[in-house]
Amino acid sequence: MKEKNLTTELSAALDTLSRAVFSQPLDQSADAKISVRPLLHRGTRIFQLERQRGAQVFHQNLEGEALLRMAADELDGRYRQALIVTEEASAQYSLRQNGLYKKSGGAAVPRPAAAQGHDREKQYLLREGEAIPALVDLGVFTQDFRIVKARYDKYRQINRFVELIDQAFTGSEQKQITILDFGCGKSYLTFILYYYFSVRRGMDVKIIGYDLKADVVERCNAIAGKYGYAGLRFVHADVSKDVLYDEKVDMVVTLHACDTATDYALHYAIAKGAQHIFSVPCCQHEINGSIRWGGELDIFLRHGIIQERMAALLTDSIRALVLEDRGYAVDMIEFTDFDSTPKNLMIRARRTGRCGTAGREQARALAERYGFTQTLLELEKEF
Ligand SMILES: C[S@@+](CC[C@H](N)C(=O)[O-])C[C@H]1O[C@@H](n2cnc3c(N)ncnc32)[C@H](O)[C@@H]1O
Repeated sequence: MKEKNLTTELSAALDTLSRAVFSQPLDQSADAKISVRPLLHRGTRIFQLERQRGAQVFHQNLEGEALLRMAADELDGRYRQALIVTEEASAQYSLRQNGLYKKSGGAAVPRPAAAQGHDREKQYLLREGEAIPALVDLGVFTQDFRIVKARYDKYRQINRFVELIDQAFTGSEQKQITILDFGCGKSYLTFILYYYFSVRRGMDVKIIGYDLKADVVERCNAIAGKYGYAGLRFVHADVSKDVLYDEKVDMVVTLHACDTATDYALHYAIAKGAQHIFSVPCCQHEINGSIRWGGELDIFLRHGIIQERMAALLTDSIRALVLEDRGYAVDMIEFTDFDSTPKNLMIRARRTGRCGTAGREQARALAERYGFTQTLLELEKEF
């Protein structure tokens, strides 16, 4: 078999490149591994390099020609092993004594199982195979950036969440953003948002995730440190009582923050005049636990399961009314399909500054008549 020049091989593969990996450097001071992925940045196909140095990982975005120049200068003849995967084939390269590479493979690439069937047509914004290393640590991606089967629903949810945010930023020239994530938990969404804004949009990003669980917060901070995500941090806090962030906030997000934690997030967003709110509530127990018979709505209170669902819808309806009164345009949207999670309603709100009071009065009258408590309504009663 004819021996190959790696830069020429990479150049021939560039148009359909899915992934390339260069490992086992001759020089021990070089990056231990360099992975390359294509991605769309503001409509242009570019290449993202991930350089593994010790325990840290660094990212760099390059256009095709710059990538080939870098390959000629830094990679060709300097790494013992290379893998080049295109949409059609996968080939392995091993460095020979003469500085050229022996090519093996070239076999057709099998489609990953997760991309088959129902999701074959679906093009996710954050595609399987994209080098998002934190998702490997979080157990959503395998080492070679395939979706872990058991985490597929989570992957779909965070993808959809980011797609909805992406829609809100279409055409935006904003360069800097501060985001708070209330009840971030294991922080799949928080890491993805950081990746999306910093790598995809090239913005200066600050994200803080808050959670009650100290061990989870510690682990997330360790992962952020590992990848040098300087603008991402996690804070152990009870959002219902702790003093949080003092500076300007552009966006507040919640994904399944429990029960009234969502209300504290919305209240905080209003108080800080955050431009964007993306909130997917869950466990709306508060009204269900306090509502009693009082009028026409009693027909919803005759069966526990109906009462529970009605109370959840009433909770989110009141949240929307309060947000509208406090200067936000609100959409209620189905955030992902019901199969992925039944907690699939998103409150999407954008600040307009046009305030009112009618919605809150209506909601307060209902609360009084049916005896229920709703935290956001309470928190906003002074305003
Ligand atoms: C169902 S998990 C969702 C986690 C994450 N957002 C996700 O979607 O994977 C809800 C998280 O909210 C946190 N939480 C609930 N109440 C909170 C509060 N008052 N302050 C801070 N975190 C809270 C919980 O500790 C938990 O990690």
